[in-house]
Amino acid sequence: MTNDIQALKTEITGQIGGAKDLKALDDVRVNVLGKKGRITDLMKTLGGMDPEERKTKGQALNALKDEIAALIKRQESALKKQELDGRLATETIDISLSPRPEVMGHIHPISQTIEELTAIFADMGFSVAEGPDIEDDFHNFTALNFPPGHPAREMQDTFFLPDDPEEQGEYAKKLLRTHTSAVQIRHMQGNKPPHKIICFGRTYRSDYDMTHTPMFHQMEGLVIDKATHMGHLKGCLMDFVRAYFGIDDLPVRFRPSFFPFVEPGAEVDIGCSRKEGGLRLGGNKDGSVDGWMEILGCGMVHPKVLMNCGLDPDEYQGFAFGMGIERMAMLKYGIPDLRTFYESDLRWLRHYGFSPLERPNNATGVKA
Ligand code: PHE
Repeated sequence: MTNDIQALKTEITGQIGGAKDLKALDDVRVNVLGKKGRITDLMKTLGGMDPEERKTKGQALNALKDEIAALIKRQESALKKQELDGRLATETIDISLSPRPEVMGHIHPISQTIEELTAIFADMGFSVAEGPDIEDDFHNFTALNFPPGHPAREMQDTFFLPDDPEEQGEYAKKLLRTHTSAVQIRHMQGNKPPHKIICFGRTYRSDYDMTHTPMFHQMEGLVIDKATHMGHLKGCLMDFVRAYFGIDDLPVRFRPSFFPFVEPGAEVDIGCSRKEGGLRLGGNKDGSVDGWMEILGCGMVHPKVLMNCGLDPDEYQGFAFGMGIERMAMLKYGIPDLRTFYESDLRWLRHYGFSPLERPNNATGVKA
């Protein structure tokens, strides 16, 4: 009897080893362990045996069954691996396939502009800081010298979030940040001076017309050190606007303006010349201008802001600037309406977007 089982085992083992694919292996399994399989049939004969024989034979058959099942399993994974290796060897992807411009996506002008701005400031040694879109009253207003009730808050009306029962008080009130200047505060509070950072991000105000959308993007810059002065501010921003617009002699004007967090504060305008009825960036041949275009706000950081961030204004000082990224993109790339940036119109994106393979950069200029 044991000899029979031994012979059967040898035979089945041979069949399993001989199964060259998963289908053949499954046939062997059905033949041996299936409802009418050879081992199953032998199991059925146990019922007619006397108890002693049934016990020894039953044990031997069960052991055989387990062994065969394990062998099938092992052969199955070996065959699966072999099959996969075969597929990996044959199914190679031809990455040399040429790009198809008609199905290629476009880079949004906002992303393109952020990259251009980053490249210019990176060359000047700035690093990038970040801050949250959901701010609190303190970082967005109070620390920036807009105390509660200050009329300048009115110009930056925004979206307020429901009060958080865990954080009470006027300064904890949560809102969507109205400008990236809040990142100045976070950066100064969390890091040791000197500071030389830029930051980008979404900002929010409750406005909507041709030049205002409830969500837009800003870029902020902050430089704080022991001997930083207004001359640095002017040099930095003049170099920046000329590099960004790619016009070496672009006329730049600093016009006094008010922001609570700077003193003195200024607005930067760039000169334009009139050509064919429209304003063109850059002055006339003789250096004169026919108009000015406002592009960004700046100023020397207010001593109160420095103190709010734990800095001694007698030791540290510096400048900050902020600009709308959409505006920078509109002026450089001739996009007339701000609202179209967010309409997700593919025709707009195909027209104003940039091909990933032919993006302009600061070295190539507007035409890549
Ligand atoms: N945060 C100002 C605004 O949104 C811009 C600004 C930034 C002005 C930094 C001066 C200095 O209008």
